[in-house]
Amino acid sequence: MSDFQDARVLVVGGSSGIGLATAAAFAAAGAQVTIASRSADKLAAAATSIAQPVAAAVLDTADEAAVEAFFAAGEPWDHVIVSAAQTRGGPARQLPMADAYAAMNSKFWGAYRVARAVRLREGGSLTLVSGQASQRPRGNSVLQGAINSALETLARGLALELAPLRVNCVSPGTIDTPMWNRLADDARRTMFEQTAQRLPVGRIGRPDDIARAVLYLAGNGFATGTVLLCEGGSVLV
Ligand SMILES: NC(=O)c1ccc[n+]([C@@H]2O[C@H](COP(=O)([O-])OP(=O)(O)OC[C@H]3O[C@@H](n4cnc5c(N)ncnc54)[C@H](OP(=O)(O)O)[C@@H]3O)[C@@H](O)[C@H]2O)c1
Repeated sequence: MSDFQDARVLVVGGSSGIGLATAAAFAAAGAQVTIASRSADKLAAAATSIAQPVAAAVLDTADEAAVEAFFAAGEPWDHVIVSAAQTRGGPARQLPMADAYAAMNSKFWGAYRVARAVRLREGGSLTLVSGQASQRPRGNSVLQGAINSALETLARGLALELAPLRVNCVSPGTIDTPMWNRLADDARRTMFEQTAQRLPVGRIGRPDDIARAVLYLAGNGFATGTVLLCEGGSVLV
């Protein structure tokens, strides 16, 4: 039987990209999955794209009261994953401070709010999603690396605070998800091709690559405080 058979799994950010692939992987493994994000429409479309039935919940991680009410109202979870984020990048001297604050509020404080409010069953786990820029900062997206570093250290600290519950973090490289739709089609294609040529694995990532890393961390009772890079060897080159 699967490690996740009938497990209650919540994927915050489950309506798209890495979160959607993670929700689908848990559902395929027999879990009772709920996907959460801000848009009811995106959630409905995501739910129908998953072969197994999944529940959906509208939740904005920026809304502290809503996050607290959501977790207080429901049953505890076995595994919670936070991949929710919407961040604008850019060089520190060009990115407006309002966008910088919004990015931190979305990706870091959003995960922090969930971590404060979440209720997990015995044996449960929380998995955050950071990004390779913590290890491989980029001059044109400095804040992104700082946010990812903060998230990774948050996960390691929470692994102590919430023990024996487990807290981990997956750090993806470049993954083909709707996050990149902010680039024009040509620019996105070129970026993906150039990145693939640079990487030891010769391709960019798929959402399912990261889903598999998440399921490994959630399912391994000896993994806590782990930051798992899954980036095609990007930090090596
Ligand atoms: N794709 C990559 O190359 C890559 C690389 C490194 C790290 N990452 C990180 O991986 C995570 C997931 O990225 P992705 O590529 O899967 O992005 P994505 O396809 O854009 O998905 C983001 C998800 O987050 C949800 N979301 C955004 N803001 C939210 C909020 N305030 N409250 C609740 N849900 C919210 C979105 O749904 P709604 O719009 O419905 O809210 C969506 O489901 C992000 O933290 C990203 O920075 C991605």
